[in-house]
Amino acid sequence: MTDAMVEGDIGWFPLSLRLAGRRVLVVGGGEIAVNKIRLLLAHDARVELLATHLNGQVAEWVERGVVSLVGDMAADGALRAVMPGCRLVYAATDDRAVNRAVATVADDLNIPVCAVDDPDPSSFITPAQIHRGPVRIAISTGGAAPVLARRLRATIEAHVPDDTATLARYLSDRRARVVEACPDVPRRRRIWEDFIDGVGGAAARGGAFEQADDVLAALLRDVRVRGEVWLVGAGPGDPDLLTLRALNLMQNADSVLYDQLVAPGLLDRVRRDAELVYVGKRASRHTLAQSEINAELVRRAQRGERVLRLKGGDPFIFGRGGEEIETLLGHGVPFQIVPGITAASGCAAYAGIPLTHRDCAQSCIFVTGHARADGALDLPWDAMARSGQTIVIYMGVGALPSLCARLIDHGLSADWPVAVVERGTLPGQRVVEGTLATLPGRVVEAGVGTPALIIVGEVVRHRVVSPPGFNPSSV
Ligand SMILES: C[S@@+](CC[C@H](N)C(=O)[O-])C[C@H]1O[C@@H](n2cnc3c(N)ncnc32)[C@H](O)[C@@H]1O
Repeated sequence: MTDAMVEGDIGWFPLSLRLAGRRVLVVGGGEIAVNKIRLLLAHDARVELLATHLNGQVAEWVERGVVSLVGDMAADGALRAVMPGCRLVYAATDDRAVNRAVATVADDLNIPVCAVDDPDPSSFITPAQIHRGPVRIAISTGGAAPVLARRLRATIEAHVPDDTATLARYLSDRRARVVEACPDVPRRRRIWEDFIDGVGGAAARGGAFEQADDVLAALLRDVRVRGEVWLVGAGPGDPDLLTLRALNLMQNADSVLYDQLVAPGLLDRVRRDAELVYVGKRASRHTLAQSEINAELVRRAQRGERVLRLKGGDPFIFGRGGEEIETLLGHGVPFQIVPGITAASGCAAYAGIPLTHRDCAQSCIFVTGHARADGALDLPWDAMARSGQTIVIYMGVGALPSLCARLIDHGLSADWPVAVVERGTLPGQRVVEGTLATLPGRVVEAGVGTPALIIVGEVVRHRVVSPPGFNPSSV
């Protein structure tokens, strides 16, 4: 069981079945059967029918000889006589008891059976499908939520253009030739990726096959595997807050170097065969020194990998992204930088706290509360302790008592509002509210852990406790 699964998720194994020329028995001749027969005919199955009553569409198919009527309804003996040799059976009447009886016989004979809209007696179910020529995308909720499956299909459908069919056929036709010309698997995969993402793919989609062939030939001759590094912000935790660009690169990386703040749900979005390398850091426990991470990025890029350096939040906000690109520049390694939603924006939004507000906060300042090795907090206190301003403090929970005391020393009142957002945007997010005087005690009482972000300022009073769409808990 993978991290993404919970008990009860397991049950239906997706696979693609060849039905062309194979006998499939459908029991039932009404509306429910029509949908299944249509699907089966689209896959060139030989549909045989057991039914007492045929609706207009089914009668027409029978009349045209597209579907063979092999008997009327479903006495046990009739079922046992026609089922042997069938690849599949659909029990598609509007009578659940009849469907279940059909399923029992099919099960007895070891033939996969689907009792329509009734997963319990079924040994297979039919997923919602998207067809683009040879490309098939199937979406299944294991029979738990068919309407959700259909909604997902609509969403995915919008992202898979019709010309995908043309592209897929083009690729299929050239596949053997490319395998022969380039037996090296990683290099070949790269050629295909460059082709599909580039002008060649666009030409093939549009049917300009000669032009596409020229591009493919050029790639086969010239491609030199060149590594690069993509420095990508993964946002504060909720995978839905990834940018489209981040997702796209996650799907194309050969290896991913990720740190502590990258939530497991985010890694599920990475290409399955990419190598995942944890280089995480905690405030007090460095797994890999920054210089080692920099060197590892260079090493991997130099051997031709496309390396995704995935960082929590935004790489350029307390993320040491600047140091990493300086090293890459120094070694002539090409790189891209993709911004992410920083913890301040993500946590504030999910906690319902506006970072600026017309009435009370005309500016917002981000600071780090990470103390120096000697324990000192080196911060611009006078610039911070101002009314009309929100202060967001990253990495500050360990030093919270001292932070609050120093802000009071520099002129903010003891009842100035403060909130801490723990695990912002993630399941179990908590928000603890208080004042500069009370919050340190409350945070200890609540046992606030990491990651956590501090928001100081009158905006905390404007907090909307349950913003629409989510419901963070608050203590
Ligand atoms: C090293 S900084 C990295 C910041 C990151 N680059 C960004 O833009 O969000 C780590 C700090 O960010 C804050 N943080 C990051 N993700 C958070 C989350 N999901 N909830 C609360 N705070 C978070 C915490 O203050 C944490 O100690």
